[in-house]
Amino acid sequence: MKLDTFDYDKLAKYYDKIYFNKDYEKEVRFIQTILEKFNVKTVLDVGCGTGEHLFRLEKLGFKCDGLDLSEGMLSIAKQKVKNAQLFLGDMRNFNLNRKYDAIICMFATFNYNLTIKDTMRTLLNFRRHLNDKGIVLLDLYNVFCNGEKEIKNKEIEVKMKWSYNDKTRIEKTKSIFKIKNKIIEDTHTFRIFSISEIKNLFKHTKFQKIIFYENYTFKKPTLRSKNIEVIGLK
Ligand SMILES: C[S@@+](CC[C@H](N)C(=O)[O-])C[C@H]1O[C@@H](n2cnc3c(N)ncnc32)[C@H](O)[C@@H]1O
Repeated sequence: MKLDTFDYDKLAKYYDKIYFNKDYEKEVRFIQTILEKFNVKTVLDVGCGTGEHLFRLEKLGFKCDGLDLSEGMLSIAKQKVKNAQLFLGDMRNFNLNRKYDAIICMFATFNYNLTIKDTMRTLLNFRRHLNDKGIVLLDLYNVFCNGEKEIKNKEIEVKMKWSYNDKTRIEKTKSIFKIKNKIIEDTHTFRIFSISEIKNLFKHTKFQKIIFYENYTFKKPTLRSKNIEVIGLK
């Protein structure tokens, strides 16, 4: 299925402003604990976006690279990272000819796999880029309902409305961002995965052990967890 990067190219220069209240510090503390537990030294951040996790992980001493489908997002990330190499590519079929101790895929990037076929391709591709005993760490979006919200601060106004189809497990989010006097409209389509689906997908792609947490804590997820973090061991 074709993925459209146009929206992210269009959003790139506003992205960090739009997500001004996302707690990357907390997320990176969680990621760091996991990476240290599995003795990870090298990390590939797939869907690295503007590099918010990357530059913090680099500062902590991990040897990191990033990959994204949007040139616009990568060009912002480039201004933040020190040594990381940044690659333009699609999670389903990139080929870097190198392996990492960990592949991370944060902030629902994995939910852009809209079909089971694409999801399997992505997991197999991740596995191919992992060293023995390497790990995959995913952060999945897990809101499966209709809803809307508004966020406002001095610089930006965001209105979001999402609708979920239980049969297809597809969620569409329409957002309107008002930044100064500029208005940007954006639509995103995600697939929502159940825990049992993820377990099966990881098993089918030959990951050994699968661990689930919720909302960047070490608690077990529930149906209501907004985010689910998944760790798969090669
Ligand atoms: C919600 S943003 C997350 C960015 C970053 N991980 C963060 O936490 O801020 C999703 C990112 O995934 C990228 N993306 C979407 N589909 C992709 C694909 N098939 N392969 C690689 N990157 C993709 C987008 O360009 C965007 O930068």
